[in-house]
Amino acid sequence: MSLIVGIGLRSGTSYRELRDLVEKALAGLSPQDVVQVVTVEGKETEPGLQRLVASLDAQLFTAPSLELSQQQVPTPSDEVERLTGTASVAEAAVILSGAELVVPKQRSARATVAVGKLLNSQSMAAPGYPQTERETVHRVLAERRDVRRGFLDHPIADDVLTRVLESAHRAPSVGLSQPWDFVLIRDIATRRKVHDLAIAQRDAFAASLPADRRSAFDGLKIEAILDTPLNIAVTCDPGRGGRHVLGRHADPRTTWFSAAIAIQNLWLAARAEGLGVGWVSFFEPGEVGAVLDLPAQVELVGYLCVGHVEEFAAAPELVRSGWAARRPLSWAVHQEAWGQRGLPGESPSQVIVRDAVQAEGVAKPVGSQVVHLVVVDAAQPELLERPEALVVQVAGEKPAADFGVLWRPARSADEAVELGVEVARDLVLQGVGQIVVELPVESDISRALARGVRLGGLACGITVDEPGKMRDSSA
Ligand SMILES: Cc1cc2nc3c(=O)[nH]c(=O)nc-3n(C[C@H](O)[C@H](O)[C@H](O)COP(=O)(O)O)c2cc1C
Repeated sequence: MSLIVGIGLRSGTSYRELRDLVEKALAGLSPQDVVQVVTVEGKETEPGLQRLVASLDAQLFTAPSLELSQQQVPTPSDEVERLTGTASVAEAAVILSGAELVVPKQRSARATVAVGKLLNSQSMAAPGYPQTERETVHRVLAERRDVRRGFLDHPIADDVLTRVLESAHRAPSVGLSQPWDFVLIRDIATRRKVHDLAIAQRDAFAASLPADRRSAFDGLKIEAILDTPLNIAVTCDPGRGGRHVLGRHADPRTTWFSAAIAIQNLWLAARAEGLGVGWVSFFEPGEVGAVLDLPAQVELVGYLCVGHVEEFAAAPELVRSGWAARRPLSWAVHQEAWGQRGLPGESPSQVIVRDAVQAEGVAKPVGSQVVHLVVVDAAQPELLERPEALVVQVAGEKPAADFGVLWRPARSADEAVELGVEVARDLVLQGVGQIVVELPVESDISRALARGVRLGGLACGITVDEPGKMRDSSA
């Protein structure tokens, strides 16, 4: 059980008075279950309160008095309301935490205490974020979309844009280096130049695709540079903050991560303001840098098309068009170490294989591409150069990138099966309708990966052939 203690106190209330009052209020409940002490903003520096929180080994939170005053409390006090604006700080603090009030207000000469119980799912609920507000935060996260269509011809008000940029600028950054800048682009001539660059890259990408994938791509809109009143280029200055940026020395990538997080903040704040944002990355970054006259040390991280929209689609456009699909969360969560997959509260298992087996035979529309998949061990590096095939290397040695080899260094047969399922799933999502698997020299690992490909292929309703082997539909 997790308990919340709400406290109202006059300045200077002693630790002893608070301790006695809390003990009385907790009668029959264990002080060890107290996880949070909540009071009104401004009282967090009270020494008696700080000592009480330390003795309970709990966390101290404060809530704004305005929010406390808006809570309906069972034991209101006119006098307290006159003095503090809140009918009972102690009870309001408990209720605001999302807890169920189990001990109504108890009083001493200078303080009041109330106790609440958190339901399991509410453990460590954040004071100041009642359930409905928490849901709104999660809703914004779920309803943020990459938007490329349906922009309105409305200007973006300066105060709205400033709020959005303010949120972006509040993003976490390595060593608080804030390596980002935001270039606001409205000029149509500049946007045309950037648009030309995106179209050239779009054509180059289209030319690299197999025929049916290409026709699927032709139906996709990948930018809204000229359809939106505002474009924002978000940049990164990797040297911002100088030589001794805290946390950057061992991993310089953190600078670019920071700039990317600023974009995510911008994206979310824009969603809450009804502004659609579409990220365009069909660029060689230096070319955009030249159009925008970026200094040499400043790099483009993201190019965003921004404008008001009437609605946000319920699912990503790439999902709705059948171009891509979301990977299940349970595949992405590992407990303690890689491979022990499962959601919190679940026992770790080989969920990838389990899901593939369960989904087996489910009829789905499949593409017409045939992919020749060659599973290779390091023992045969000469087999890696097979431009007509998709070569998967399962051994530990990283192949030279320019072969286009898919490197899947499986450390066990179980891991190889999982990797195989994912390889098959990715191929099916890319419009492959048949996989022909070849194992030039068999090993436990290469056989296991092939088995995974078979499982994944069957789960997605496509044919997986191994020439020289009977088709194995039982996998
Ligand atoms: C780094 C990055 C680059 C992207 N580049 C493009 C792009 O060039 N064109 C495009 O149409 N979408 C682009 N997207 C949007 C993704 O396709 C989109 O986020 C994904 O399909 C999920 O959809 P959602 O954002 O609506 O949830 C990009 C997204 C990110 C994070």
